[in-house]
Formats: sequence, structure tokens, C-alpha cells
Amino acid sequence: MSKDKLWGGRFTQPTDKFVEEFTASIQFDKRLYHQDIRGSIAHARMLGKQGIIPMEDVEQIVHGLQQILQQIEAGEFDFSIALEDIHMNIEARLSAKIGEAGKRLHTGRSRNDQVALDIRLYLRDEIVDIATYLDLLIDALLGQAEANLDVIMPGFTHLQTAQPILFSHHLMAYVEMLTRDKGRMEDCLKRVNVLPLGAGALAGTTFPIDREYVAEQLNFPAITRNSLDSVSDRDFALEFLAASSILMMHLSRFSEELILWSTSEFRFIELSDGFCTGSSIMPQKKNPDVPELVRGKTGRVYGNLMALLTVMKSLPLAYNKDMQEDKEPLFDTIDTVKGSLKIFADMIREMRINGETMRRAAGYGFSTATDVADYLVRKGLPFRDAHEVVGKAVAYCVENEMDITDLSLAEWQLFSAKVDNDIFAAITVEASVNARNVPGGTARARVESEIRAAREGK
Ligand code: ARG
Repeated sequence: MSKDKLWGGRFTQPTDKFVEEFTASIQFDKRLYHQDIRGSIAHARMLGKQGIIPMEDVEQIVHGLQQILQQIEAGEFDFSIALEDIHMNIEARLSAKIGEAGKRLHTGRSRNDQVALDIRLYLRDEIVDIATYLDLLIDALLGQAEANLDVIMPGFTHLQTAQPILFSHHLMAYVEMLTRDKGRMEDCLKRVNVLPLGAGALAGTTFPIDREYVAEQLNFPAITRNSLDSVSDRDFALEFLAASSILMMHLSRFSEELILWSTSEFRFIELSDGFCTGSSIMPQKKNPDVPELVRGKTGRVYGNLMALLTVMKSLPLAYNKDMQEDKEPLFDTIDTVKGSLKIFADMIREMRINGETMRRAAGYGFSTATDVADYLVRKGLPFRDAHEVVGKAVAYCVENEMDITDLSLAEWQLFSAKVDNDIFAAITVEASVNARNVPGGTARARVESEIRAAREGK
């Protein structure tokens, strides 16, 4: 019945049951209970300090809310669909418990600024958590990069063998991506970490509230500057979803490589059994389920970003009920990103590296052809001419089914008189890797110093 509703005053007919269910958000926003209670306690203390409600009421409110918190955490709280959302579920319970005083809590506040506050409080902690998970994965990558500094693999472009690289260099590329992801999360946190409470429904409030005091209690370094924007802004959530989408894109690329590398054609790595499953029909199979699933889950995170962007598109100021649709994409993204990062860190830590196989593959596909060209340049040939010479040598090798490293000095000299005996040492995969001794290059010394810098957080 309308009479049960906190907003029932102006209504004469009860809410249709299905409408009630359709419009409720308690099914998913109960996750915000802790933030809601924390925010309400701060608000109540401010109301008391400002003399807007009596201090005795504040004490009752705080005590009542703490009891409700315990009840929820003990699983003893009955969430009611009729009470629509977490805010009204808690407030109604508080009033049922302590009466009059409970009914004073919502003075100078609206659910519109309340929900904005709760989401910001929630997301703020989750971002800190995600940054920690990113650190764990980065740490696992650094561990593998350090342990496998001798491993040389083929580097690819177009998924064709291009040039030999250190396997550690490849891993460090992901360290770069994940470090940027962490930076994006931290940057987004600055805009999440602003107090919206005090905006009221949309225009502010007639009570002499102290927003700075609420901000201080809740550890917000700043307060929002415009009440309309405070209740209608979800940019901070969109930024988080965008940062998460990029993060998942990185994990999907890594997943793809892990899947490829663990095929019997590549055999570069072996994922430990715990991260794979078998096939119900093919006894030989060991499927890389975890990276496949992370690759797949990237789709839902992109979907969540698109969902919220579309919810927010064209919404007139200020709050609109559409915005209740912000929570599920947000929560789902948080769960997906945390789960993916956690499982990835464990998987990387346990991954076995087949250094020999990688080393062999690094020598295929004329991977040191560029080194021959560079060699000729050092002997005085312009690069374009050197490129041409090596191209011809490669064609000759293809024709005769041999590798570039199989050519004799006499054969080399068919292509260029500048080739000498020192060619052979210049075109091993080790020489190729170590010759790339520039900042950001794959030479061992460079990779080692990059790993060190990452360890020191530089
Ligand atoms: N459950 C609502 C939401 O998540 C809370 C804010 C409702 N405000 C309102 N005026 N109906 O957005």
C-alpha cells in the first residue's frame, strides 16, 4: 500500500506489484549498504553539529544505524522490494527501530545526492583494490621476466616472425600496459573522490548544512561545486568503465598470446593444470580455459561501458530514474576486472616456459635479416641498398630451402662483396637481441634495467 512508502503522502492508490518490482533496485544496490550507513552517520553528525536536529537524535540515529549494519552483516536483515532501494530499506528500518529521531535523518538530503555519494564511496575503495590487484599481476610478470632473462623468442609483426627478442622484453611490454592501467585508475580516482552530498534533490538545501564537515568525516579531499551536476554526473563511473575496458583489452591480448603459445604448434609455454580443463571426448586435450574466459569477459566490460554511455546519453538535468541503471554495469565490471586480474596473476606465476622451443623458433623465418642489412650499413652501404641485397639473399634461401644462417661466405659474396667472415657472429639470435641496445630496446642490459626500474617503482 502507498501508506507503507516513505514517499506515500501524495499517493492514493497502491503501487502495482509488478511496477514495484520493475522499478526497485534493492536486488542489486544492497551492495551499497555499508557506504549508505557510513554516509548517513556522517550526515546525521553534521545535522547535529549544525543544530539542525537535536544531538540526542543524532546519538540514537548513529546507534540505530550501527545495529542495522551488524544485522545486515550477520545476514539478519530482510530486504524489502516494496522499499525499493537500499536507502529506503535502511531508513525505514531505522525509523521502525528508533521512531521520531529516525525520521529526522533525511533532513536536508535527497536520495539523489545520497545515491551519488554511496556509489562514489563504493567505487573509491574498489579502485584502490583494483590497483592492488594490478600490482600483484605486475609482480608476477616481473618474477617471470627476471627468471627467464636468457630466453630468446621470435618477436612478431603481422603474427609473422620479425626479429628475435628477449621473452622478458615481451613480458615487460605487458608491465608497461598494466602500469598505464594503474595510472588511469588512479587518475579516475581523483574525480570519484569528491563529495556530492549537500546537493539535495537538485538545487541544494534550505538548511545551514556544513558540507566540508561531511567531506572531512568521509575523507573526501573536495566537494562538488554545482548541485545539478552533483546529482546527475556519472562521468566518474564512465571513466572507470573506460579504464576497465582498456585494461581488459590488454588482458585479452595477453590471453590470446597465452592461448597461442600453449598450442602444440607453438609449445612456448605450459599453463599449469589448475588453469586448464580437459575435453569430455578428446582425451589428449588440455584447454586454456582461463585465458579464453578472460578474453571472452572483455566483451561484457565493453558492453557495460556502452550500456552506461547509452543510459547517460541525452539525459536532461538533473537526476532521472534512468540513472538507476548505472549500478549493474558498474558492479559487474568491478567483479570481472578483479576476478580477471587475480586469476591472471596466479596463472602467470605458475606458467612454465619452454625456453628451448622459443629459442629454436627465434631462429626461423629469416628473423635476423634486418641484422644483415644493418651489418652492410656498417660496412658503408646505404640502408635502402642493403635492404635490397638482403632481400635477394632471402629469395635465394627460399629458392634453395635454406636459412639465412646456412649461407656460406662465398654465397654471401654473390650478393655483396662487402660481406666478410664477421657476418656469422653478427647474425646469431643472441647478437641480434643484444645489438638492440637503445633505450626501450630488447638488449639484455636494457631489459634488466627496465625490470629494475619497475621493481623500484620508477
Ligand atoms: N534507487 C535510486 C537509484 O539508484 C536512488 C535514487 C532515487 N531517486 C529518486 N528520485 N527516485 O538511482
